[in-house]
Amino acid sequence: MPSTLAFDVYGTLIDTHGVVSALRPMVGDKAQAFSQAWRDKQLEYAFRRGLMQNYVDFATCTRQALDFTSTSSGAGLSDEQKLELLAMYRRLPAFADVRDALATLRDDGLRMYAFSNGSEAAVGALLEAAGIANFFVGIVSVDALRSFKPNPAVYSYFLRRSGAVGADAWLISSNAFDVIGAMSSGMRGAWLQRSPDAIFDPWEFEPTVTLHSLADLGQRITDCQARP
Ligand code: LAC
Repeated sequence: MPSTLAFDVYGTLIDTHGVVSALRPMVGDKAQAFSQAWRDKQLEYAFRRGLMQNYVDFATCTRQALDFTSTSSGAGLSDEQKLELLAMYRRLPAFADVRDALATLRDDGLRMYAFSNGSEAAVGALLEAAGIANFFVGIVSVDALRSFKPNPAVYSYFLRRSGAVGADAWLISSNAFDVIGAMSSGMRGAWLQRSPDAIFDPWEFEPTVTLHSLADLGQRITDCQARP
């Protein structure tokens, strides 16, 4: 049975900081900090919605987080500026290592899914715009469960949808909380350290493998399978 790979989307395949160039004319040299605060708040809203069992889709979390960040940063963006940023968010670019790595993994026979907090429609459009949709056998969205990562139900749902069993299924993510959530549910976890400043939470979990580029993923999976 070849390994089944569940790729996180936002932050792992797709660069959420692709909005920085559009933010610069709006908020100047605060653009990077604004983008980070927006992303952090978006995830916080998803965590809280999941815990509260009061679901709205991820695009709504993104929009409400933008409203919050616009106010908290003092930027006071106009409605037009917010619409422009949200339109960009639906067409964010893939990271530079993604296309070649996915092509190699597909040629090696791995079964690859996009597995995301984003709705199936939003993720499908994003992957199409980035030119990487055809590498995946499917998109699995938490939207079907009306909850968010790292609810264990969403990782079980991934396993049911893909037909994979825990140890043959890998979650690949730059988001440490996502790797930990998947490993806590019995999957293997590859943490992609996209920035040297990124820290893996010092809990009782360690990633099965840590990567600095997606290009290394296939070899690292092979090494793990060769181990007794
Ligand atoms: C996702 C979020 C966690 O794509 O980035 O699921």
